[in-house]
Parts: sequence; structure tokens; C-alpha cells
Amino acid sequence: MQKFAGKVALVTGAGGGIGRAVACALAAEGASVIVADIVDAGRDTVALIEAAGGRAAFVRTDVQSSADTATMVRQAVTRFGRLDIAINNAGIDPEVAPEAEWDEATMARILGVNVQGVFLCLKHEIAQMLKQGGGAIVNLASAAGVVGVVNKPAYTASKHAVVGLTKASGLQYASRGIRINAVCPGAVDTQMLQDNLADGVDKALVGANHPIGRLASPEEIARAVLWLCSEDAGYVVGHALVVDGGLTVQ
Ligand SMILES: NC(=O)c1ccc[n+]([C@@H]2O[C@H](COP(=O)([O-])OP(=O)(O)OC[C@H]3O[C@@H](n4cnc5c(N)ncnc54)[C@H](O)[C@@H]3O)[C@@H](O)[C@H]2O)c1
Repeated sequence: MQKFAGKVALVTGAGGGIGRAVACALAAEGASVIVADIVDAGRDTVALIEAAGGRAAFVRTDVQSSADTATMVRQAVTRFGRLDIAINNAGIDPEVAPEAEWDEATMARILGVNVQGVFLCLKHEIAQMLKQGGGAIVNLASAAGVVGVVNKPAYTASKHAVVGLTKASGLQYASRGIRINAVCPGAVDTQMLQDNLADGVDKALVGANHPIGRLASPEEIARAVLWLCSEDAGYVVGHALVVDGGLTVQ
């Protein structure tokens, strides 16, 4: 029995990495999925889902745009009839180690996508879910949402803000059937991680710095996201679930 048969989901930033893994996992469990991304790679995710027998549609979305995020939610309703599950995953991390520049433009860019983007997605998703009487939302924060990361002031601030948005909105809508939670991954083997490696640093070394001794796969993060969306997590509200191989326990 598929866990999300008959459900409708949307995933932002689903053109690659964690978002693609979440979209594919939701579709494999029976959900119809809106694949939202700013780039065309979202079409490849749809093709992967359809090739595996699932249902999905691409909606080009810049999460920084209120008009785009409203359209994204409207498309879920127009194409598949409702919105039960929303994964606010799109994020950027352009503060490249070893020494992040304390640069206003970088700060504004990161807050625009990682914070304002999640805020706008929540706003439109919640409005639709209130009309239906419920739903489940998961925001992608980070281990940088619960501890500080050297050389990443803007990214760290943005992910703490995602945890804050999760708690405030989780509290506000808990009694109206909408559960809102967050996942806080450690280092995950995606393009974002690859783009962030300092000169001469191998990604295996980043994995070795985690107590578990390796990076996470996008699919491992997807499993945590799906659990939070499922009835098994029916009493979990406003929680920031750390999935980091022990990184923040040290
Ligand atoms: N990879 C990691 O190590 C890691 C660790 C902790 C948290 N995270 C978080 O998980 C999420 C996904 O990360 P990832 O590693 O899969 O990243 P990624 O860069 O591999 O993929 C991110 C996707 O988001 C899309 N995107 C970027 N800006 C967008 C916008 N304005 N509107 C819509 N889509 C946009 C990109 O096109 C891309 O497809 C992010 O929020 C990231 O901060 C990642």
C-alpha cells in the first residue's frame, strides 16, 4: 500500500539534489507532484517520475516571487485538484569557504531565497490548506539552522530564520490541521555541496568530519521529509528534525 496514494504534493527546488529525491520518493508512494524550480532541470525530474509510472508536472517558479508561488499552488489545484503536502526546499548557499565576504548583496540574495522564499511559499500553501481543512508542510533548514557555521554568516542566519518560521507557523496552524515542521540536514551529496568545496578539499573529507564518517545521500534526507509528512508523524508540530550523522551532537 502506497503511503501517499491520492495525495497531491509540491516540492520547490525539485530540479536536482534533495528536492528531486523528495519529489521522486513522494511520487513512488503514490502522490501526484508539482515539481517547482527556477531552472528547466525540473522537467527532467518530471520525466524520471513519469518513467517510474508516477504523476508529476513542472511549474517554473522563482520562490522569491509572490506571483510565482501563488501560481505554483494554483497549478497544484488546477492540475491535480488540491494540495495536501508542500516541501519548501529551494535554497542557495553562495558563501564559498574558506572566507565568506561580509557583503550586503550576498546577504540580501541569501535572505531573499532562503527566508523570503519560504515565507511566500508558506503564505500561499497555508491559504490553500486552510480551505481544505489541513495538510503537512516541511521546510528544508540545515544543521546551520541550529548551530553557527564559520564563514557562513548569511546562510547560518537564513537557516535559523527557517527554523523560526517553522516554529511560528507550526504553532499558528496546529489547531487547524496543518502540521508544519523542518528538516535540518548535515552535509548532503548534491551540487550545492560540490559548489561549496574550498580549494583542495575533497567531499569525502567533509563526510569524514561528520561522526558517522560520510555524507548523507539526498534519498536519506527524503526519507526524513516523508516521515514528517506522514500520519506516523501526526503529533509532530513545529519540530526541527536534525538529520546530520551526529554533526551537531559533538
Ligand atoms: N546539500 C547540503 O549539504 C545541504 C545541507 C543542509 C541543508 N541543505 C538545504 O537543502 C535544500 C536543497 O539543497 P540541495 O543541496 O539539494 O541544493 P541544490 O543546489 O543541489 O538544489 C537546489 C535547487 O533549488 C533551485 N533553486 C535555487 N533558487 C531557486 C529559486 N529562487 N526558486 C526556485 N528554485 C530555486 C535550484 O535551481 C536547484 O534545483 C536547500 O534549502 C539547502 O540549503 C542542503
